[in-house]
Amino acid sequence: MSRKALIAANWKMYKTPAEAKAFVDAFLQLVAGHTRDEIALFPSPVLLPTVIEAAKGSNVLVGCQNIHFAEEGAYTGETSVGQLKAVGGTHTLIGHSERRQYFAETDEIVNKKLHTALKHGLVPVVCVGEVLAEREAGKTADVLKTQVTGALAGITAEMAAPIVIAYEPVWAIGTGKTATPEMAVEAHRIIRAEVAKLLGPAVAAAIRILYGGSVKPDNATALIGQEEIDGALVGGASLKPDSFTAIIKY
Ligand code: 13P
Repeated sequence: MSRKALIAANWKMYKTPAEAKAFVDAFLQLVAGHTRDEIALFPSPVLLPTVIEAAKGSNVLVGCQNIHFAEEGAYTGETSVGQLKAVGGTHTLIGHSERRQYFAETDEIVNKKLHTALKHGLVPVVCVGEVLAEREAGKTADVLKTQVTGALAGITAEMAAPIVIAYEPVWAIGTGKTATPEMAVEAHRIIRAEVAKLLGPAVAAAIRILYGGSVKPDNATALIGQEEIDGALVGGASLKPDSFTAIIKY
């Protein structure tokens, strides 16, 4: 079963519109004609129109870092799926650990967001991962199973095709510490087995599981080159066109 890799940039709360435009203009030249992998950018909502306009007609997909589960309403500071789609966004991250950690997102909220994203035809990238204390306590498998089960509640095999999962061990995010390829593969297998249990072997074999957490040009091949790892979700090293391109061309 060959799964097309997705290499995605999570820009977090970085870049102005001018900086985002300059990135995309330079980046498109560097990745022109690259069809081996899917490429996606996840900028802040305020940058979306600029990035989508600059990437129009290219091989670069664009999505939001977060959506609300409600269609619309009195949710100050939030972005709806309708708003994202109206500016041309096609993808969204859901349940990034920074959302879970700083904005109290629970598995239940992640699940509601996933249902909304699928209902509106977005490609959702659902993030899961253990914190350091959980890993040190030997609870990684339990945490991953709980997060995957929570995220996928009420999702059927028929609905699941667009879903992407990102395994992001929280202790590896922005720390320069990466999971070894062996650790990442082990976690991905746990996630895939849980997907198989919930949605069946065909969905599990087809679902893409990305690795995120201090992916850099010098460790990209060792990680993404693993059969079990279907791409990367990149933070810091995605902010410069050349380092992100080096990861894409691992
Ligand atoms: P870093 O690549 O900066 O560790 O961030 C990973 C991440 O959180 C991507 O979503």
